[in-house]
Amino acid sequence: MALRKLVAGNWKMHGLSSDLGEVRAIAEGSRRYPTVDVALCLPAILIERAARAVPGFAIGAQDVHEAEQGAYTGCTSARQLLDAGASLTIVGHSERREGQYESNSQIKAKAEAALSCGLGVILCVGESLAVRETGRAVSTVEAQLDASLPDGFAEGLSVAYEPIWAIGTGKVPGVDDIAEMHAALRARLEAAYGDAGQSVRILYGGSVKASNAAEIFSVAHVDGALVGGASLKASDFLPIVAAAAAS
Ligand code: PGA
Repeated sequence: MALRKLVAGNWKMHGLSSDLGEVRAIAEGSRRYPTVDVALCLPAILIERAARAVPGFAIGAQDVHEAEQGAYTGCTSARQLLDAGASLTIVGHSERREGQYESNSQIKAKAEAALSCGLGVILCVGESLAVRETGRAVSTVEAQLDASLPDGFAEGLSVAYEPIWAIGTGKVPGVDDIAEMHAALRARLEAAYGDAGQSVRILYGGSVKASNAAEIFSVAHVDGALVGGASLKASDFLPIVAAAAAS
């Protein structure tokens, strides 16, 4: 089943209010590709202003806390993100799994908290170079997905396969490796959710750019992309959206 593609940008800890012009340019440019869902996951501090600047365009967060509210200094709840104008959030990015020591069970709780409020989720999984080199990439990522996938299917869930060694490095797995991993993840989603697992989009992330996007989008079970560095400028990002529309 061919799913509508989702191309989501992840600005990470980049961007100031002076960069809202790029958000506007991306939102306006994306209108030329109505067959593709496009989103920008921004630093929390920019979400509200961006959402006001581009009504109708999907603005997302990069993380969410699993609790509804409480004594969690520095954290943001799903309802707070919705209130600011976000419609989705990334959870389980490797930069949080590694840098903030987030566990699969915590990421699962975050995804469940977001989905239960109506916030879409991009749940990230991916292996390190050491794991890839020992030939255990597929089993490792399958186990990561199984342990971080929300209980019970909810619309609005997407999964992103992001090999850690491909993030920000310019290195990309071969199309056969992407195909093998995405097919494995599709099988795990079907095992968890039955037929509904066929409707969960599986994005690829890691050094996606205009020059490799068409090839990546041609791979079976690649239903979009999570784009870091190449999402900061409309001139880099919109050609990726165009490649998704053409695929
Ligand atoms: P990159 O980042 O496109 O800069 O490799 C992707 C990501 O971390 O989501």
